[in-house]
Amino acid sequence: MDGNAGPPPLFHVSYPRRIPARAPENHVPAAPRFSLRWRHAVPTLVSDYFGLQGAGQADAKGHEFVSRMSQWFSEPNGPSAYEITTCIDETGRPATVVLAYWTSPSAHAAWSTGSSWRVWWEDAARPTEDVGYWREHLMCPYDRHETIYSDPNYRVGLARTPNSELVPITTNGYFGAARDRIPLSAVDDLQAPVRPSTPPARRTAGARLAVTIPHNLTVLRSGQFWHNSDPEQAADYEQNLRVKLDRGMDYLEQTPDSGCLYLRRLTNMSEDGTPRRETSIQAVFTSLADLESWAAVHETHLAIYRHAIAMKRRYGEHRDVVTWHELFVLPGGTLFEYLNCAENTGMLPYLPHLGRSPEFPLPHVGNTGSRPS
Ligand code: HEM
Repeated sequence: MDGNAGPPPLFHVSYPRRIPARAPENHVPAAPRFSLRWRHAVPTLVSDYFGLQGAGQADAKGHEFVSRMSQWFSEPNGPSAYEITTCIDETGRPATVVLAYWTSPSAHAAWSTGSSWRVWWEDAARPTEDVGYWREHLMCPYDRHETIYSDPNYRVGLARTPNSELVPITTNGYFGAARDRIPLSAVDDLQAPVRPSTPPARRTAGARLAVTIPHNLTVLRSGQFWHNSDPEQAADYEQNLRVKLDRGMDYLEQTPDSGCLYLRRLTNMSEDGTPRRETSIQAVFTSLADLESWAAVHETHLAIYRHAIAMKRRYGEHRDVVTWHELFVLPGGTLFEYLNCAENTGMLPYLPHLGRSPEFPLPHVGNTGSRPS
């Protein structure tokens, strides 16, 4: 071995463009931003969201769920990073959500078929409990994702996986930048051919159900970290920025035409079960175009965006509230699974769902994305 060899090159994918970039000519961003790269090839990224519906982290059942998941994750091929969060879910129930990340779909497949978690998940008793469970499986080819971080020193989400680095970027500071950062957007406009509609209501209580997600379903995890912020910046976050964020999320939840199918306001938990000053929004959109259009045009995101920029101007390099997101434009076909969940959970209201079997019908085509009340 050559002792002087430097680190392996950063992995990235790019295509000769057929579709022009959105970046203005000679664009120079006003504020520094960072994206995630790895020092080994990561052709596919996997993130599974494991939910317990009906018990938050303050509840003994939530606590037990987390300790079991943590044990199962420590078995061979478990995730390389995970986080514990809690929320009031889209049905109004307390929930515990564990987010797990793999950078190898083979390791993920080995774990999710061969671990003790699988035995527990398959147990016929599971859907008969007085709580519900979900697993939303995001399997995303590298060229369909992008990330952005306001600070290169705080690691969260995918950025906790090994061999990753946060590197400075210049594809930021204009609307359309997120799309430009998704490698596949150079050759594919990422339109969603299927708009989820509302199938007739079916019984979900006591059932083991799955939906096949439609092509180009877009899932964003947008994070906010102020756990270590100085009191002045923490107060500004809690009294000003968070209020604007909540307004934006209220709007998305109440406006089916926005293309937002559902969202969860997750709060990260410490190992001892106390909430951290760290949150993230898991937002599921019909298409990237719908998400972009809210971000670029709607007053609620513009208010958030302007506040973030004003604070960066005020504090400069001392800005210590970290914001970031990871975005996946998923190829269709993977399953979001729901066991004994309420009717309005996750993708259940939007697509035909059947008892789980190897063959699933393709999602049907409809015109609306509204959540039935
Ligand atoms: C406190 C929370 C948030 C802050 C401070 C924030 C701030 C920002 C900023 C400053 C940018 C531009 C970054 C750049 O290119 O330099 C941005 C982009 C974006 N934000 Fe937010 N945001 C927040 C929450 C959210 C949420 C919850 C969503 C979605 C549900 C969202 C969706 C987006 C999208 C899609 C973009 C990319 C737009 C594009 O490049 O076309 N943001 N945000």
